[in-house]
Amino acid sequence: MTRVLMVCLGNICRSPLAEGILKSKVDSKEVEVDSAGTASYHIGKGPDPRSIATASRYNIDITDQRARQFTVEDFDKFDYIFAMDKSNYQNIIALTRDASDKAKVALMLDILEHPQVKEVPDPYYGGDQGFEHVFQLLDQATDLVVKRLNLK
Ligand code: 4NP
Repeated sequence: MTRVLMVCLGNICRSPLAEGILKSKVDSKEVEVDSAGTASYHIGKGPDPRSIATASRYNIDITDQRARQFTVEDFDKFDYIFAMDKSNYQNIIALTRDASDKAKVALMLDILEHPQVKEVPDPYYGGDQGFEHVFQLLDQATDLVVKRLNLK
């Protein structure tokens, strides 16, 4: 079993999409995918309606997800931890206990060979097109996660 954790700030916009998209590309018997937020604001809430609508346009259902906060135990549970932006990355790195924890953490878009942007932009305060852009970036990035980690 390979375990992958997607992390953003609130766990209601970007990382729920990342979780849903990656889940749609792998076998759940072989790959466990989860998501979390570095902040506590939205614990227990479902994804933002704009993330739900965007995923739904691509036949991905993320309505059952509930926001939770990243914890230090996630370093024990997961093999790969992908941060959506540099701020999320720094927040996770600040919680690492040793080099083994640190080696599990990567910036999501660093997996792209020629990224137009280095971070998955926070779409929370923007319009609907921000969520479509996030979806497209995560669709490209998760294709490479599947390929690089040999998940298929
Ligand atoms: P996310 O987006 O980190 O992609 O889930 C955000 C959600 C909520 C807030 C910020 C970003 N917020 O400030 O409440």
